[in-house]
Amino acid sequence: MTIAADASTLRNEIATRLVNARTRTEGLTECVDDADLIRQHSPLMSPLVWDLAHVANQEELWLLRGVGGREPMHPEIDPLYDAFEHPRADRPSLPLLPPQQARGYAREVRGRVLDLLDRVSFTTGPLVESGFVFGMIAQHEQQHDETMLATHQLRKGGQVLSAAPPDPAPADVLGLRAEVLVPGGTFTMGTSAEPWALDNERPGHLVDVPAFYLDTTPVTNAAYAEFISDGGYQEQRLWSPAGWQYRQKANLTAPLFWERGGSGQWLRRRFGVTEPVPPAEPVMHVCWYEADAYARWAGRRLPSEAEWEKAARFDPASGRSRRYPWGDADPSPAHANLGQRHLQPAQAGSYPMGAAPSGARQLIGDVWEWTASDFLPYPGFVAYPYREYSEVFFGPDYKVLRGGAFSADAVACRGTFRNWDFPIRRQIFAGFRTARDAELA
Ligand SMILES: [Fe+2]
Repeated sequence: MTIAADASTLRNEIATRLVNARTRTEGLTECVDDADLIRQHSPLMSPLVWDLAHVANQEELWLLRGVGGREPMHPEIDPLYDAFEHPRADRPSLPLLPPQQARGYAREVRGRVLDLLDRVSFTTGPLVESGFVFGMIAQHEQQHDETMLATHQLRKGGQVLSAAPPDPAPADVLGLRAEVLVPGGTFTMGTSAEPWALDNERPGHLVDVPAFYLDTTPVTNAAYAEFISDGGYQEQRLWSPAGWQYRQKANLTAPLFWERGGSGQWLRRRFGVTEPVPPAEPVMHVCWYEADAYARWAGRRLPSEAEWEKAARFDPASGRSRRYPWGDADPSPAHANLGQRHLQPAQAGSYPMGAAPSGARQLIGDVWEWTASDFLPYPGFVAYPYREYSEVFFGPDYKVLRGGAFSADAVACRGTFRNWDFPIRRQIFAGFRTARDAELA
């Protein structure tokens, strides 16, 4: 986000971001009853009531104690909500705050934070400079809102989230080329200037990326269904060795939440509603191994993280990297499908106003995009404000996802933003697009 220079505007912006996050948290936790809040809907996810109090506990730790110097409100609950102390699968067996108390705790913390915000000067060190730690907490809550939305997707039972209208289809999709050319040369990857960027996005550094072609849009359900009907899940040669092993072990045959209908057509369940798979939407709920196999089937490959970011940010006309594909302006509803406005990705080719200089569309919003790359530090990386934010995850175990999805909020999504997950994960709102080297043209 664009950060205001004067303190009172910055205060208002921070308050707005915190309130937006809380409104969403409330919407995602008030639409189910207490039993549903306490229940674990999948061993991959926390009970929703854990997320609720964890968000408040992190806010208390970083803002009330860290910035405000206050004493802990309930020190005995800190270990329960420490994500590193208890894996998700164990959280339902903890003596968690019941829904009523969790809501009360979150309200009390937030009230005190808004009081603190009125008095903070933003000049007492890097943690508060430009409101960084307030931004970190707003992003943290929005990230949990996305996780909670994934819990809703995994939840069995009928529809509880209010239906959101889909995006209108764009007029010019049929005229779009299948791929765009991103010219070769160096560009600035990452950032040293974005005030609320997290440690793993820093510092900005030059990377040389040879010319390559990238899909104009994310891969669609229709294209992915062709991969399935062409025997993609049966052809070992299309899969990496680890991917084939996992495909066998987990018996993967289609994206998560897909099933065959009576007449053989593909159906999928989304937020409690079963419907025919919409062919023009980006495919979602595929793991990295499936994305990698599809790309090989298509005679292509996944883009590297550097390629993805160059396609999303590099402006050949000015030679500089933009904050977003469309420029430096914060995302508006005309640019990208973010913020759980639609509760589904828009058709591939939507959001012409959000196009990158290369012509690629929907790089921000709609679906997270798997890249070929492992999650690694940039040259000059410094862990901040704590090692467990990013540093402990660096290495070959995690693959990078880029671009944010309809489920992600603009405060936690930018051209430099890096997400990461295990290559087997399918419950996240992730799809992908493919690439090829330009010299093979
Ligand atoms: Fe968290």
